[in-house]
Amino acid sequence: MTVLKVEFLSLTFLRPRHVFLLLLVASIVLMSLLLAGCSSSFSVMPRIYLLNIGYNGGTVYQVNGATVVNPQASVVLGNFVGRTALEVRIGYFSICLRSSPGGWLCSQNATSLAENLNPYEDPINLVNVAQNFREKIVFPYLLIIAAALSFIVFVLILPYPPLLKTVAVGVCFLSAVLVLISVLWQHTASVAAANVATNLGNGTVFTGVGITAMILGWFTFGLLTLTVIGVYFFVAIHALHAV
Ligand SMILES: *[C@@H]1O[C@H](CO)[C@@H](O)[C@H](O)[C@H]1NC(C)=O
Repeated sequence: MTVLKVEFLSLTFLRPRHVFLLLLVASIVLMSLLLAGCSSSFSVMPRIYLLNIGYNGGTVYQVNGATVVNPQASVVLGNFVGRTALEVRIGYFSICLRSSPGGWLCSQNATSLAENLNPYEDPINLVNVAQNFREKIVFPYLLIIAAALSFIVFVLILPYPPLLKTVAVGVCFLSAVLVLISVLWQHTASVAAANVATNLGNGTVFTGVGITAMILGWFTFGLLTLTVIGVYFFVAIHALHAV
């Protein structure tokens, strides 16, 4: 009878654990991708950005509205900006830019990127705007801690003592909360900066929020939440059976 019960337990415990390990590996990979966004011009990297800012390439969208005091701003600024089509993308640690459709140039060092540009390519200093956003607003460290915590959960789930699994629930919960704060921060900051930059550009500048980065962030939060609920559920069941 006892043997049967133990067998039943180990069977139910084996497969969920593998699912949790898989979820944890997936969330660590997604967080790493998110943090590595824009770090190189290779493959999908330039597509993983928090915010992009660029010039409209000679097209000027006339600003209008009840609060527009000086409608001439679009024309004047449009003439000043000219036909440049420079686009800058901002990741957690790096910046990518391209002055014309074609290859991306990415670097952690914005100074070295700016050195290669002529004044007519970046007339109102969008590279500087991007660099300041990355330096002063983007905050990658919660995400790094969350990735480290997820790895700890991974290790805690491996061995058998159920006590460690209770700890794992707590650590995993903390990791999920840090990811939630980080993604909310990333989302809010990017949307706010995009809106302000577009309006300040008076129709000469476009901005966008990186959809891929948002999906990576929110998806990681979803995976970690699933893991917390799952591990908690199985620790509870195990405790019930043990009693
Ligand atoms: C960034 O690049 C500039 C110019 O290429 C160089 O002077 C500076 O030392 C670099 N900074 C870092 C932190 O590598």
